Amino acid sequence: MIRGDSSDYELLKKWCATVPVFNPKDRFYSCEIGVREGLGSKIIMDVFKERLKGHPYMHFGIDPYGDRVYQHCDNQPNITWKGFPKGVAPTYPDEMYEQVVKDFEEYPMFNMIKMTDTQFMNENGHLEYFNFVHFDGPHMTKDVITEAVWFANRSVKGTRRFRPKMIRSKKVYNRSKYKHDQIMRERQSSSET
Ligand SMILES: C[S@@+](CC[C@H](N)C(=O)[O-])C[C@H]1O[C@@H](n2cnc3c(N)ncnc32)[C@H](O)[C@@H]1O
Repeated sequence: MIRGDSSDYELLKKWCATVPVFNPKDRFYSCEIGVREGLGSKIIMDVFKERLKGHPYMHFGIDPYGDRVYQHCDNQPNITWKGFPKGVAPTYPDEMYEQVVKDFEEYPMFNMIKMTDTQFMNENGHLEYFNFVHFDGPHMTKDVITEAVWFANRSVKGTRRFRPKMIRSKKVYNRSKYKHDQIMRERQSSSET
């Protein structure tokens, strides 16, 4: 069974179901940064494959796995993950990656990219646009802002940002939203001149 670790899946489903798809002429691209066991990606793909009715569709799941030890969020020292001492976060092993690849064998649109967000962004500057992105990898403000800027430069017309109920830091959301909106305004005014 494909499992998740969030309490926001109903919201994710709702946004996938309601975001405009603008009858895309080209391929539709969705993406999830931070896949873990795959429930977020499953929800995204289930909703869009239904909505897109056979239209060319590709989904990227980006996650390095490999039991990396990293700082998950700005206030990590104050957080207790179930089964771990205060401030110590879980890690995600390569066996999880192997299981995810197996679990999504029936999803031809699924592309598991086993690398960090930074590697992905550095290696894929040529990608032109994304229709839907779920940011659920590293939650540090600096990382989310970097992702927001990279994807804002590639997001399609009508892009909206939403803040999950469980997000621990309003600051992370507000700062990345500010950067995102600023880039969208700049893109809008340069397309008008
Ligand atoms: C909160 S979990 C993701 C949960 C998943 N979206 C779901 O619905 O179950 C965070 C994931 O981010 C991944 N991750 C950690 N650092 C990352 C990075 N720099 N780039 C991309 N993913 C990263 C971890 O390996 C972990 O699988």
